[in-house]
Amino acid sequence: MARSCIVAGNWKMYKTAPEGQEFVEKLKEFLSEEGIAERLEEIDLSMYLAVPFTALQGCVESSEGTSIRIGAQNMHDATEGAFTGEIASEMLLSAGAQFVILGHSERRHVFGEENGFVNRKVHRALDSGLQPILCIGETLEQREADQMQEVLRSQILESLAGVEKEQISEVVLAYEPVWAIGTGRTATEEQAQEAHEFCREVLGEQWGKRKAGSISILYGGSVKPTNAKGLLKQKDVDGVLVGGASLDPESFIGIVRESLGTKKKRRKKVVVAESED
Ligand code: PGA
Repeated sequence: MARSCIVAGNWKMYKTAPEGQEFVEKLKEFLSEEGIAERLEEIDLSMYLAVPFTALQGCVESSEGTSIRIGAQNMHDATEGAFTGEIASEMLLSAGAQFVILGHSERRHVFGEENGFVNRKVHRALDSGLQPILCIGETLEQREADQMQEVLRSQILESLAGVEKEQISEVVLAYEPVWAIGTGRTATEEQAQEAHEFCREVLGEQWGKRKAGSISILYGGSVKPTNAKGLLKQKDVDGVLVGGASLDPESFIGIVRESLGTKKKRRKKVVVAESED
């Protein structure tokens, strides 16, 4: 199975339900342009939108019948319970969510979430049929102290502990260096490729090379239309997770347009590489 290309928007705490629906309408106009839907299918590129909880249902309704996937930005690991202010996987599913971002750096650093908690959420998501997008990434301090690999390895292995080989391909990984999120400072193409290659190696050690080759790894951190293409051309960069630049439909669509020309050849290569395994 070839890994798919994903351009995902993470709206964070922005946009009301009507604003979300207005955005989806703009994406639908883009999808109705001649040749766009066919090209997206041809290169297996999907558009994901991680929207605020209150915008889920509206965005799901507006995107019905299209290839746009709507998901959430977080959830709790329990099925239900006395957890004021939290949300459960079943609630997200009943609102039509298809995926959920877990372990985003803002959850880890602002709300103190650790790998163990994130791991329980990953299991809950997989068990309930929501695709998890697991975020990992080092801080500037850790990078400068030469700890990047150590941090990424433990985030991957601890957050995905106990995930069976049969389920691992359902996980999407997002490498988001904390120093690049919302700072305007993007990782260079080489830095992104190096980190992604390392993540795939770690996945391969744990779940086997073939499985590692089927997992989409997204890059996140100050992605915009002007740098998306260079990042996506990297061998192990399968897509992007976009915060700030996903709030404006024009720049989000700009990133998708930049992605259209970058992926086809690689999809083929991945299939060949896998069949050699
Ligand atoms: P940014 O955010 O694109 O604004 O840097 C990325 C993210 O937090 O997922």
